[in-house]
Amino acid sequence: MPIEWKASLSVGDFALDRDHQQLIGIMNNFMDAVVKNHALEERGRVLNDLLLYTKNHFQKEEAYLQQIDYPGLAAHQEAHAALMRQVFEFRMKFLLNPDQPSQDLFAFLNHWLINHIIKMDLQYREFVSATATPIR
Ligand SMILES: [Fe+2]
Repeated sequence: MPIEWKASLSVGDFALDRDHQQLIGIMNNFMDAVVKNHALEERGRVLNDLLLYTKNHFQKEEAYLQQIDYPGLAAHQEAHAALMRQVFEFRMKFLLNPDQPSQDLFAFLNHWLINHIIKMDLQYREFVSATATPIR
């Protein structure tokens, strides 16, 4: 079942919400390619898209957090670096063993992004509303 973005995941910024929706879309494309057993090359391509998009998104989000003087910026940057390491590792494991069960892949991706949005990204939404910093 595809992952869905919902309003409760909104971080209070349109551009960043759009990025999260896009990331979820790419994750769903990857899972679709796995479930439909698309060529390994195609699955690898979607995974590369996910890595590239994630990297750009994290940079954008960190620039935003800097712009709003978010006190949790350093911890957030560390969390992003850890997520990037995890997804690189995920890609390596996938390429070494592309036939691993789709539930395992799905569980990792779902947890990997959604957990970060809920645990860390939603904290800056609270900060923005608490300090009434104008949102872009
Ligand atoms: Fe984040």
